[in-house]
Amino acid sequence: MEAARWAPSAYNEQPWRFIVGEKGTEVYNHILESLVEWNQLWAVNAPVLVLNIAKQLFTHNNTPNDTYKYDLGQAVAFMIIEAMNQGVVSHQMSGFDSDMAEKSLNISQGYHAVSVTAFGYQGHKDMLTEDFAQLELKPRERKNFDTIVIRGKFND
Ligand SMILES: Cc1cc2nc3c(=O)[nH]c(=O)nc-3n(C[C@H](O)[C@H](O)[C@H](O)COP(=O)(O)O)c2cc1C
Repeated sequence: MEAARWAPSAYNEQPWRFIVGEKGTEVYNHILESLVEWNQLWAVNAPVLVLNIAKQLFTHNNTPNDTYKYDLGQAVAFMIIEAMNQGVVSHQMSGFDSDMAEKSLNISQGYHAVSVTAFGYQGHKDMLTEDFAQLELKPRERKNFDTIVIRGKFND
């Protein structure tokens, strides 16, 4: 959370807010219930679920902050990298019902629930069911460097 707090943001607005749900609390249950069924299946094992929300208007002039999601995402990225540094693993999710989460957690007008992050400790692969093992143990993939880094003309 401290790493997220220090993230840069447009106009230093710091539009991010984090609703922290610890397992066994009402907040945790509300966040869990807002997840799509598939995510609930595994996220229920996480000791902490965080609802990532952000303020949509700039505070200084009440105009739309076009980068509120960008700023929130950057703060979350800082958070998960520092978590990793401290031995805590994370899994982000956009598969959730934001309206439901906003209602059940009384999120004020003008704030939008963008994503959820599950935090926990790395388990052992033997704990996975067959279905999850297939997904979790397959090689991780990314686009080639040359696809994402453009040195000449953009030509997609
Ligand atoms: C914004 C965002 C939303 C995501 N939503 C989900 C989700 O709802 N459910 C899920 O299982 N994974 C979700 N993921 C995880 C991605 O599917 C995952 O990062 C991607 O497939 C690459 O896998 P890897 O990071 O293990 O290599 C999300 C990741 C991000 C950054």
